[in-house]
Amino acid sequence: MRIPLMTANWKMHKTVGEALAFVEAFLPLVREVAGVEAVLAPSFTALDRVGEALAGSGVALAAQDCHAELFGAFTGEISATMLADLGCAYAIVGHSERRALCGESDAEVAGKAATLLQHGIHPIVCVGESLAEREEGRAHARVGEQLEKSLARVPAEKAADIVVAYEPIWAIGTGRTASPEDAQEMHAFIRECLGKRFGGEARSIRIQYGGSVKPDNVYALMAQPDVDGALVGGASLEPASFAKIVRFGPPEESK
Ligand code: PGA
Repeated sequence: MRIPLMTANWKMHKTVGEALAFVEAFLPLVREVAGVEAVLAPSFTALDRVGEALAGSGVALAAQDCHAELFGAFTGEISATMLADLGCAYAIVGHSERRALCGESDAEVAGKAATLLQHGIHPIVCVGESLAEREEGRAHARVGEQLEKSLARVPAEKAADIVVAYEPIWAIGTGRTASPEDAQEMHAFIRECLGKRFGGEARSIRIQYGGSVKPDNVYALMAQPDVDGALVGGASLEPASFAKIVRFGPPEESK
């Protein structure tokens, strides 16, 4: 069974104080929620204190990136061992913003995912096509290629430990979400690719949808059989908003 996974990707938002204020307001809102895993991905500077504040709450800690090497002359970078040391259970890798702004390649993403797995951290591997690729009918080819290359170093016995996040670039931060049907169609394709790569293990891999997920559209997305959670940017910055997403109730309950 795939336990739904809701990840708050705070990107470059929140000082330590702001992050702690979020946790204080958020935890009581999700205390009663069962059968869903909630994850917070603050900036590196807030990881330590947020991790302390989450201890024993059942809400997990994630990093927004990680370097593929474990130590060395990589100024400004953070390793998987450093993240494990802070109690990170997850780390996002290959986010489209990092692919676009930092020139991150599929090969680098593959290295990061492999290192994270070796250190007991679940990589959340992001894939997704651009608007031009979708309009030209190349969305499947693009996502299939990203999956193949980004997961190239995941050993079959660790397949169930990875998370894939499908984030169509045209839906990120734009207010434009993929329709539930379009999301399901791509998630089913992703699961098919994972099946070819990992066999039956693919059924255990959680596939999150990301791109303008909000309290009022999460229910319809989560109703799709291959949508196993959400990777949420803008709507995860407010405790009440992200708590509604973690609950993913019908729209009338999300008001
Ligand atoms: P968004 O961001 O929810 O603001 O569209 C999602 C993401 O980039 O992970």
